[in-house]
Amino acid sequence: MFALSDVRYLPEQPAHHAAIDAIAAEAFGPGRFTRAAERVREMAAHAPALSFVAEYDGAIIGSVRLTPIAIGATASLMLGPLAVRPAFKNRGAGKALMQRAAEAARQAGETSIILVGDPPYYAPLGYRPLPRGSVIMPGPVDLSRLLGLELVPGELEGVRGRVQPRQESAGRSASGFFCS
Ligand SMILES: CC(C)(COP(=O)(O)OP(=O)(O)OC[C@H]1O[C@@H](n2cnc3c(N)ncnc32)[C@H](O)[C@@H]1OP(=O)(O)O)[C@@H](O)C(=O)NCCC(=O)NCCS
Repeated sequence: MFALSDVRYLPEQPAHHAAIDAIAAEAFGPGRFTRAAERVREMAAHAPALSFVAEYDGAIIGSVRLTPIAIGATASLMLGPLAVRPAFKNRGAGKALMQRAAEAARQAGETSIILVGDPPYYAPLGYRPLPRGSVIMPGPVDLSRLLGLELVPGELEGVRGRVQPRQESAGRSASGFFCS
């Protein structure tokens, strides 16, 4: 019988890629490639150290990825996809993956995370709607589903611009990262 305490959460490794792709295909189907969040992930590589899998009895049952981005000149992270295999849903694995990713990002000195998702699921994890029109995604998106989490209080205040890959030369300022 599945028990949440038997689930291990591990940073993503190359050996997990096939299972992660299969879980995303199962969760989102072929339409996943047309999602605006997927366009972001096509432009920029995700960060394996900030991305996690849930493993149960030797099998990967869920995953979450974080991708370094810039919103205008402000460094941030894009979260997704988040998916848990159907047989393991509603036992807390999704939220545990979310919490591990956010904690790893915080430890790495990151200051915010954005995502496109259902507000009722993400609100208890601290995600709030971004001001309409402030963040421009590379494709159509339902603006009520564009959410952000401040890892450092105030870091998303006044942030505006297009979501794009983070530049290699991105550095850290007193108030967070910036792209030069
Ligand atoms: C969304 C998803 C990752 C949640 O994973 P999970 O391990 O089942 O979630 P948790 O166990 O942490 O949380 C379950 C709770 O969230 C609620 N929930 C799940 N999906 C929800 C949604 N889309 N909107 C609102 N609430 C949702 C459940 O009803 C449950 O509520 P309860 O605790 O009051 O019973 C999983 O359902 C999934 O893979 N869905 C398909 C892919 C997807 O939609 N991903 C998110 C968009 S990127």
